[in-house]
Amino acid sequence: MNRRRRIYEGKAKVLYEGPEPGTLIQHFKDDATAFNAKKHELIDGKGVLNNRICEFVYQNLNQIGVPTHFIRRLNMREQLIREVEIIPLEVVVRNVAAGSLAKRIGVEEGTALPRSIIEFYYKSDALEDPMVSEEHITCFGWASPQEIDDIMALALRINDFLTGLFLGVGIRLVDFKIEFGRLYENDLVRVVLADEISPDSCRLWDIQSNDKLDKDRFRRDMGGLVEAYTEVARRLGIMNELEPPPGRGPVLVK
Ligand code: TMP
Repeated sequence: MNRRRRIYEGKAKVLYEGPEPGTLIQHFKDDATAFNAKKHELIDGKGVLNNRICEFVYQNLNQIGVPTHFIRRLNMREQLIREVEIIPLEVVVRNVAAGSLAKRIGVEEGTALPRSIIEFYYKSDALEDPMVSEEHITCFGWASPQEIDDIMALALRINDFLTGLFLGVGIRLVDFKIEFGRLYENDLVRVVLADEISPDSCRLWDIQSNDKLDKDRFRRDMGGLVEAYTEVARRLGIMNELEPPPGRGPVLVK
């Protein structure tokens, strides 16, 4: 048996060397963490659900011309992706006040924002991902002014697309976090969407009941996380493929 080369292990995913140069395999684990991994649990089935939901979202984004690192899904937990140089920023887009924004500004969770907000956080576990401005980003060389422009334009397109996608299945996209990478192709470099989009990285509320269908169920000890993620997958129409094929028994081939 050959052991695969592990390139990087994060809190919820592992990256392995891919089958060709310039590719990687992104493996979704069942680990759920919050508060910079101070809270940690294994949630059976989460990785499988996030792999499928992320595949669905990234395939659609590729189709509408938003460049992503996603190539194709390989199996229940893994996808083939392009190797990119991760830009060390967590880009948060918000449509409704919740979480750290509601706390920081003192507004009630659930207050609709008059326009979408983009925030940047510096990706550093040691520093607990501090919020930073464009000034910090260019001053410390984490991204160039052109890259920040590209990131903001892509983030708003992704927000528009996802807002509509989820609204169509009765879900309000409250906020989400995305990450970008530099894709090197010959003598060109471009910014593409990397990492993942899943209920781990979004706030998704049922439009009628405001029920939470995302990782806040884990952060806030509400339980029912797999059921909520399964509901998101079901509404997006990817649930059928998650179920084992019905046992029809042998079929006579004539
Ligand atoms: P926040 O309100 O805690 O700042 O989170 C904003 C959004 O970003 C929310 O959808 C959850 C997501 N998020 C992550 O994906 N990873 C993180 O480490 C944090 C803090 C938030």
